[in-house]
Amino acid sequence: MAVIASANFVTMEDSRPMTKRVRKAVIPVGGLGTRFLPATKAMPKEMLPVVDKPLIQYAVEEAAAAGIEDFIFVTGRAKQAIEDHFDVSFELEHILERRGATERLDEVRAVCPANTRMAYTRQGDPLGLGHAVLCARELIGDEPFAVLLADDLIKSDRPCLQQLVEINEQTQGNVVGVMEVAREHTSRYGILDIGDEDGDLVTIAGLVEKPAPRNAPSRLAIIGRYVLRPEIFEHLAESQVGAGGEIQLTDAMARMIGGAPFHGLRIEGRRFDCGDKLGFFEANVAYALQRDDLADGIRRILNDYAGS
Ligand code: G1P
Repeated sequence: MAVIASANFVTMEDSRPMTKRVRKAVIPVGGLGTRFLPATKAMPKEMLPVVDKPLIQYAVEEAAAAGIEDFIFVTGRAKQAIEDHFDVSFELEHILERRGATERLDEVRAVCPANTRMAYTRQGDPLGLGHAVLCARELIGDEPFAVLLADDLIKSDRPCLQQLVEINEQTQGNVVGVMEVAREHTSRYGILDIGDEDGDLVTIAGLVEKPAPRNAPSRLAIIGRYVLRPEIFEHLAESQVGAGGEIQLTDAMARMIGGAPFHGLRIEGRRFDCGDKLGFFEANVAYALQRDDLADGIRRILNDYAGS
């Protein structure tokens, strides 16, 4: 992986050196999850399970493994289950304890990783991803932070967010996780206009949210992992509605180019789009095949269906 030297970078927009460690993460969970209705009518899409763990828990575990201690969930309606999930469940723990189900009890207690704190703030109007991130402004304050989109599930040996945090530690700049997509899919993603390339690391010359294939500056797409400097909030606060009538994070990020370093990192690992039904089922298969208790059974089922 590329190594860049510019440890005490000072931006043009902000003359203070910024060498703070990334310890806070924003997880927007205010979306309506319309692609999974009716399952998501009363339940957040982030609670959909891949095998036996909700999507939101994968995101929290990945972030905790990257050193995140403070989580800020930007919630909307019908999101109570997320708060309950990361809270202590005395009744459940008591019952499991009485039954001597120690393994299950440990699993339940491990849902909230050690040394982490959870905060919840409400988005009110679902005005888009940029607006959701802006809602966390007061809770983040003046430090770099991560954003994770839980329906982008990333299976990798090194936690994906950790890969981004390492680049931020070298550059003190902004970093987004990226991957190559088919040209006909550019209209689903924020797409990079590529500057220089150095191995997995790409300098970002521009960003466009959901361009039509013929207008896309490249096929390099943002996946739902970001490490951003706090100046993003000033740009978000000035944002007008963009693609899809929403306040777009990509548009605000585009306005930060030219200030602090801004890189795209081709991530190591496999990304599953769990906001999409096929992506979600594929994730279930991939994660189940890694489980000793399930792999043989899943293989047998897949073989049976492949023959039919
Ligand atoms: C969001 C972002 C987009 C990014 C994508 C990754 O879009 O706006 O830039 O590429 O997540 O999943 P959404 O999928 O919420 O429409």
